[in-house]
Amino acid sequence: MSADRLIIRRPDDWHLHLRDGAMLAAVLPATARGFARAVVMPNLVPPVATVAAAAAYRNRINGTAKGGVRFTPLMTLYLTDASDPEEVEKGFNAGVVFACKLYPRDATTNAQSGVTDMARIAHVLARMEEIGVPLLVHGEVSDPEVDVFDREAVFIDRVLAPMIKDFPGLRVVLEHITTSEAVDFVGDGPDRLAATITPHHLMVDRNHMLAGGIRPHLFCLPVVKRARHREALRRIATSGHRRFFLGTDSAPHAVADKEQACGCAGIFNAPVAMEAYASVFDELGALDALENFAAHFGAAFYGLPVNEETLILERDPWTVPETVEVAGAGGRGGVRPFLAGETINWRVAGIGPPNKGPVL
Ligand code: NCD
Ligand code: ZN
Repeated sequence: MSADRLIIRRPDDWHLHLRDGAMLAAVLPATARGFARAVVMPNLVPPVATVAAAAAYRNRINGTAKGGVRFTPLMTLYLTDASDPEEVEKGFNAGVVFACKLYPRDATTNAQSGVTDMARIAHVLARMEEIGVPLLVHGEVSDPEVDVFDREAVFIDRVLAPMIKDFPGLRVVLEHITTSEAVDFVGDGPDRLAATITPHHLMVDRNHMLAGGIRPHLFCLPVVKRARHREALRRIATSGHRRFFLGTDSAPHAVADKEQACGCAGIFNAPVAMEAYASVFDELGALDALENFAAHFGAAFYGLPVNEETLILERDPWTVPETVEVAGAGGRGGVRPFLAGETINWRVAGIGPPNKGPVL
């Protein structure tokens, strides 16, 4: 592997928002050009909370053009106070439901139907633990008394730590982690606990978002934290720890919804995700750790085979487009990618043939 060309197993995105309709059609190609599989978040309006809704959403994704490449969406069910363990089990056994997603009520975009109190879903978690359905967690409390920058750390203490004890067989992924507290908790935790890390949380801290003016396109939840937290994330992502792996949390919103008095949370990074991860790993002298983070560790945690195809990355600077158009969006405009207008050193050159031999 030369320093200017990197061939890795085709990666997977273990946390992705694809939306629906025209937005789905606009953003799906940006993911499918690189990632072979993606865990698709269920926070549509209304949420994907039944097996029928998940199956129908999967059909809509599969029916949307992906530029001729193979791409497999892995579907999740949105847990609510009314979730039924029978429904989860039915969907899991049918191969429709890959995992369940916990949004604490009002913690983030479209979390209005989320769970108000963990006690309400204890019987659902018990069933998931029994049959082996992973729980994917938005790890923030939504208690208005808690400072927004502390909500992940407080969630770990108040909700996650007790849950890990109460359900000793439950497989849990703490999604899009943003703090050194999360790095430590997951890093020191049991083998059934893992975390995903986004490209933006590896690149951006709160100064990037707030110093010299407010940059709404860098606003997401959990919100980016102090530089020292970003450092902790960069260290663990490149460390070779098997329970930290790639999840972009690419979360497109129309420009008009981001640039307003109360702009919504979410960063659309799919057009630049693998390139951004490669740049960070390169900066840290850790390009040899990228393949495990992007293509092996997540699959291993979920008990899935590694993809046979490869992804070719080249050191070849390019400028990230200012917008991705959404058909029929009219005056609402398109979506603005992460790093729009900036030059990035790595480029995805394409998907390569199956690599059945040892990975160098
Ligand atoms: C996500 C979205 O827009 O759906 N937003 C975000 O800021 N990450 C929801 C989420 O994952 O929190
Ligand atoms: Zn998300």
